[in-house]
Amino acid sequence: MLTTSPSSGLEGMVAGESAICLIDEEKSELRYRGYLAEELSEHATFEEVAYLLLKGELPSSQALEVWKDELVQASILPALIFQWSRMVPPHAHPMDILRTGVSLLGMVDLEATKSSYEANIQKAIKLLAQTPLLVALASRPNEKKTHPFQLIRSQSFAENLLYFLTGDRDAVHAKELDISLILYAEHELNASTFAARVTASTLADMYGAVMSGIAALKGPLHGGANEAVAQMLTSIGEPEKARDWVLSLLRNKQRIMGFGHRVLKHGDPRSDVMKRRAKALSGQLGNWQWYEMAERIDQTMHEEKGMPPNLDFYTAVVYLLLKIPIPAYTPIFVASRMSGWCAHIIEQQMNNRIIRPRATYTGPPKREFLPISYRS
Ligand code: CMC
Repeated sequence: MLTTSPSSGLEGMVAGESAICLIDEEKSELRYRGYLAEELSEHATFEEVAYLLLKGELPSSQALEVWKDELVQASILPALIFQWSRMVPPHAHPMDILRTGVSLLGMVDLEATKSSYEANIQKAIKLLAQTPLLVALASRPNEKKTHPFQLIRSQSFAENLLYFLTGDRDAVHAKELDISLILYAEHELNASTFAARVTASTLADMYGAVMSGIAALKGPLHGGANEAVAQMLTSIGEPEKARDWVLSLLRNKQRIMGFGHRVLKHGDPRSDVMKRRAKALSGQLGNWQWYEMAERIDQTMHEEKGMPPNLDFYTAVVYLLLKIPIPAYTPIFVASRMSGWCAHIIEQQMNNRIIRPRATYTGPPKREFLPISYRS
């Protein structure tokens, strides 16, 4: 018996319980395991936040050092990845390379199908540590990396990632990336996390569940939006053209990437943080081109649609300022959300029941089968 009639896109429907993340849209607050994400982005590092999401508590300084050691040790990619990376076609999208890379990691992991809490934590550490290296391989495939290639212990997660992507070793720039990683890390039952949980609920392994997440994240309505925002900004080119450009898209009933949110209708607190970071970084670098353009788009969207920007909008400005290649933007989101996905996969499998909803049937009425010779 079907008891509820689902809203389009499951809007507003509660599809499960989770102790990982609270989105309070009325107060415009986002909390990871009880802590305000904004506060974490100001005072913690991505490594601490990933630990919090996966283990439930913030690490002590001693536990953090052990955690960093574990990440470095787990970061060495299997040799097979380097053999395969030489076969990747030049036109391949980094998100497809990343998805396939995670599939290969699962294929070679002898522990892949073990799903105890401890085994899943170990896999989460590997996935978290190896993803920045996969992102580097995926985003700069022409620069052939050789085995071994691993995280550098003296650098933070964000410093490693920024260095892999741009060659930049500036710790101040890496801190801006770190803030975005903290804010990207987790967001309750967004499409990719839901996809990962559905796959995990069949007791498929963590790699398969993460691949579902990556596949869902690629779309421009979800994680692909940060890349789409940067493409939009580079296409507009000059702040003076931004308003007319937006008006013309809206007249043609097109969406402006980086605006709107299914849950956060009154504003995204993460976007406020990234807007401040984008402004500060523009000042430091003396480069206002992207920020001014973004502000004009923001203003136009406010006037025309009353629609606030989401996290992807000003994050794209920060990434443009950091000179990160645009195709790496959504893969960076993967490197961060890996922590949230793995936390959800573990939570799902610790208290599992297969996720299997129903659909309201809207197809043809009952029909009799006609043998092929009777069909016109
Ligand atoms: N630009 C212009 N109009 C928009 C936009 C936009 N970005 N977003 C929604 N609308 C309009 C939409 O056309 C609709 O108008 P109408 O009622 O006249 O048909 C109305 O607002 C409601 O939109 P909706 O499609 O019902 O909203 P939704 O909750 O289903 O979709 C969304 C949410 C995020 C997919 C959508 O706002 C969107 O497509 N935004 C652009 C893509 C984007 O920035 N995605 C990143 C999402 S947040 C971070 C993440 O998850 O990665």
